[in-house]
Amino acid sequence: MSEILGGLTLLRDVSALADWRNGLAAGQSLGLVPTMGALHEGHGSLVRAAGEQCDAVLVSLFVNPLQFNDSRDLEAYPRNEAADLELLEGWGADAAFLPTIKEMAPACEADWERAGELGAWWEGEFRPGHFDGMLTVVRRLFQKVRPTHAWFGEKDAQQLFLVQQLAARLGTPEIVAGATLREADGLALSSRNQQLSAEDRQRALALRAGLQEAKQAYEEGMRDVPALESLLRAPLEAADLQVDYAALVGNSDFAPAVVTQDGGPWLAIVAAHVGTVRLIDNLLLGEEAG
Ligand code: PAF
Repeated sequence: MSEILGGLTLLRDVSALADWRNGLAAGQSLGLVPTMGALHEGHGSLVRAAGEQCDAVLVSLFVNPLQFNDSRDLEAYPRNEAADLELLEGWGADAAFLPTIKEMAPACEADWERAGELGAWWEGEFRPGHFDGMLTVVRRLFQKVRPTHAWFGEKDAQQLFLVQQLAARLGTPEIVAGATLREADGLALSSRNQQLSAEDRQRALALRAGLQEAKQAYEEGMRDVPALESLLRAPLEAADLQVDYAALVGNSDFAPAVVTQDGGPWLAIVAAHVGTVRLIDNLLLGEEAG
């Protein structure tokens, strides 16, 4: 059963989704924007970009328990369905898919998608199993929604990298990367920002500060990886944040920069705990290859 909210069709189960999907004409393009709700302008830019490129846009809202390794983090994750649906209507989405865990969870061990070696690095090291859970749900979304295109934000760079590999293996959909949106002072937009106290909101600016210092040094010619990583880390430590990682990785393989030793381009990646809130951010050092 589907519900209509203004111009938005709400699909609360896979069978409503299938009916809606089958109602699209053959040859129509469908853009998927997968989200966990708690929507902000960063999601808005993805939904609008999808609307410009595709005939129809579906946004999924599903706080995926499979990708949380910490039950307190899952519990604290912000949720506000009514506000999210209002935003989606305003951004011009055609449908919102709000499935239950029962319909999204894999039936058996063999149904899990595995992130492989890269799933244990960086985010994976600090959130064991996170990428397996993320990929399992994203693959299920791809199979059920059958989008021609899907949008993912560049802020979750390792996620984007793994999803691109998944889509390449499946042969569909076309993955479109959305640039990270920032507040005027440089803080990357994130659903988790709303959990920050006013004081922690200020301390969180250290993530962007480290990225900018590393980028500036890179642009001035520095290619010494440990020195660049120290610049990345220094503001985080100065703000007394608990740092999970502050590193440079190859832009095309996510391998540690010390392994690639090619002088870039590198992606500078950081993850740190600001009070009880864990934030990530990244910035490209050098020009995009190709
Ligand atoms: O980036 C997110 O919000 C989630 O990881 C995603 C892609 C919606 C999968 O649950």
